[in-house]
Amino acid sequence: MNNWLLYGAYGYTGRLLAEEAIKRGHNPILAGRDAQKTAVLAQQLNLDHIALDLNDSEKLHQVVAGVDLVLHAAGPFIHTSEPMVQACLAGQTHYLDITGEIPVFENTLSYDAHAREQGIALVSGVGFDIVPTDCLGSYVAAKLPGATHLEIAFMGLTRASSGTAKTMLAMMANMPQAGLVRRNGRLEPQPFGAGQKDVLFSNGRTLTVVPIPWGDLATAQLSTGIPNVTAYMAISLPPGTRVLSPLFQRLMKVGLARRVSGKLVDWVISGPDEEMRQTARSYLWACATDEAGNKREAWLESLEAYRLTAVAGILAVEKTLTNHPVGALSPSLAFGADFVLEIEGTRRIDAL
Ligand SMILES: NC(=O)c1ccc[n+]([C@@H]2O[C@H](COP(=O)([O-])OP(=O)(O)OC[C@H]3O[C@@H](n4cnc5c(N)ncnc54)[C@H](OP(=O)(O)O)[C@@H]3O)[C@@H](O)[C@H]2O)c1
Repeated sequence: MNNWLLYGAYGYTGRLLAEEAIKRGHNPILAGRDAQKTAVLAQQLNLDHIALDLNDSEKLHQVVAGVDLVLHAAGPFIHTSEPMVQACLAGQTHYLDITGEIPVFENTLSYDAHAREQGIALVSGVGFDIVPTDCLGSYVAAKLPGATHLEIAFMGLTRASSGTAKTMLAMMANMPQAGLVRRNGRLEPQPFGAGQKDVLFSNGRTLTVVPIPWGDLATAQLSTGIPNVTAYMAISLPPGTRVLSPLFQRLMKVGLARRVSGKLVDWVISGPDEEMRQTARSYLWACATDEAGNKREAWLESLEAYRLTAVAGILAVEKTLTNHPVGALSPSLAFGADFVLEIEGTRRIDAL
């Protein structure tokens, strides 16, 4: 499985993906827009490489048509995904990315018919956002046919990389309200903190969780058929804190965050170190409910978010090149709800 391209290879997560690929016996071609950074990494890892600017459409199409698959790791994907998707459609090349951005998921999914015509898979979100949440959501949904509501919560985002922080800033700039849910099939903005609740995770901790614009809001309805979806992230708060309180909202007014420049992000934020990636764990919960109040829930424990992204990304490459799924798909539709269990150190639990 050597004829595939890793784009954005010299980024924080790109490098983790490249190292995981080597560990599993792959020799991807490393690519990125900066020729020198790409060459240095390729030399360190002893892999082939190519400098590729997404604005150079002719070269992009030519290179992409020559490989079987692209794993795209250069974000914010709102700026990088579309030209690569187009090149993959034109070249009949499978496309995978590690986005978590809702407009990017929606854009990728909009090419379903074209992807089917071309006989390729387009799968956005083969990282922490959204492999474990999508797979766990699909698992509980399958246990309760006719479910109308799906809730998914996670804890375990340890430290963001600068690329993740920049992507979050880009998302916030386009979103006046930081909360988002899907209701009756439509995305509905809401104030950050509305709908906060407490969730018991499988490590025995009960934490406050708040609805956030996680990728599942774009994909879970497709994966499960459920039209009401809420994705929550756990936050550490002193007991009794109400996220919707005026004081908390003022603190969260993200004016500060919105003014932080990309350069400052690079300087301040560096992502989890090796020790944290190896030792931290992520914990997830999902619950499907129907109109009669029946519910099915399940829990998941897995790797630290960036390590999970590296392992899931390369497993997704292997599954795609082996099974050749076709269409614009969510991870669970492309690889099955049990896909997440193939990630080392992952456990799904039906009852606590
Ligand atoms: N789904 C998940 O769970 C998950 C997990 C990890 C990361 N991510 C996402 O993956 C992306 C990368 O994260 P990271 O931690 O690797 O960030 P990073 O270290 O900042 O790396 C970003 C990479 O993207 C490249 N890039 C940015 N804009 C580009 C453009 N217009 N054209 C070509 N290349 C471009 C950068 O190249 P230059 O250095 O030349 O700018 C760099 O190689 C982020 O969007 C992040 O949110 C998602």
